[in-house]
Amino acid sequence: MKPVFDPTQYKITTKANWNTVASEYHYNWADKKIGPFRSTTEITKTANIKPDDKILDVACGTGVVSKEISQVLGPNGLLVGIDLSRAALNIARGSIAFENSMFLEMDAENIGLNFKFDKVTCQYGLMFFPDTQKVLISIKNILNHKGMLVVAVHGLAEDVPYFSTIMKPILEHVPDIRPDGTPTVHRFGNPKDLESELKKAGFESVSVTRHDFAYKPGTFDEYWNDYMHSTANSIRSKLESHGSDVMSKIKQDARKNAVRYEKDGNITFPWTVLVASGINH
Ligand SMILES: C[S@@+](CC[C@H](N)C(=O)[O-])C[C@H]1O[C@@H](n2cnc3c(N)ncnc32)[C@H](O)[C@@H]1O
Repeated sequence: MKPVFDPTQYKITTKANWNTVASEYHYNWADKKIGPFRSTTEITKTANIKPDDKILDVACGTGVVSKEISQVLGPNGLLVGIDLSRAALNIARGSIAFENSMFLEMDAENIGLNFKFDKVTCQYGLMFFPDTQKVLISIKNILNHKGMLVVAVHGLAEDVPYFSTIMKPILEHVPDIRPDGTPTVHRFGNPKDLESELKKAGFESVSVTRHDFAYKPGTFDEYWNDYMHSTANSIRSKLESHGSDVMSKIKQDARKNAVRYEKDGNITFPWTVLVASGINH
């Protein structure tokens, strides 16, 4: 029988996982603005940050969006970042020099801030929240009248093969790897679903734009190792407990899936990202 999804256990695992992978995530990908992280600039452009803006960055992680925002803010501006992971927040604190900034350990589903912001950003966070509506409605409540929310999410599985090339064989060989109902990275990958999620929470003038990036993870073995040690970190020990036979079957199938993205021994994955904005009227 499949285990039952428990949001509290899921958040505990999420927190521990991001504490483990934060540094690798930041220095190998996010801070280099490679592949999907080109969306960082799309988010700041869409948010049209002004020097006096008061900004909240939800699920700010290691602070890559916060950092770009902080470069525009002036002495009357304010930047608050919230995240579950203490390790990620410490990297954000260390890399952002802007004085009017603070990075707080906080669950996006329970935003404990009694303050009105002009803009809220959330890059690659929305799909991780078990109760997205709870997060979006509380974001709406802390936004000023005409305040703006800007989010970025990953596209559908077929448009982001970095995840599906390995995840598909994992799910085929170990179907109970995660409980039914566990949020997936592709959850809002369809522009219509993303748009209706924001509208359902009461956002108006909702707009979704699609961005097609590319990511080069190197050879298949480099991709496999990076994936197992970062993206699949939270499920790796459970996977390995199924034995080396199962692991090599997963690797073999992933190898076959990757062939169409390989040229001269190196992989180039297309990577679709959706950036959505909505206004609090
Ligand atoms: C893919 S990272 C994105 C980080 C950052 N926004 C960026 O673009 O690099 C996802 C982040 O969501 C955070 N996160 C997941 N669930 C959360 C929750 N319920 N409340 C706050 N942060 C959460 C994780 O700790 C992690 O730092």
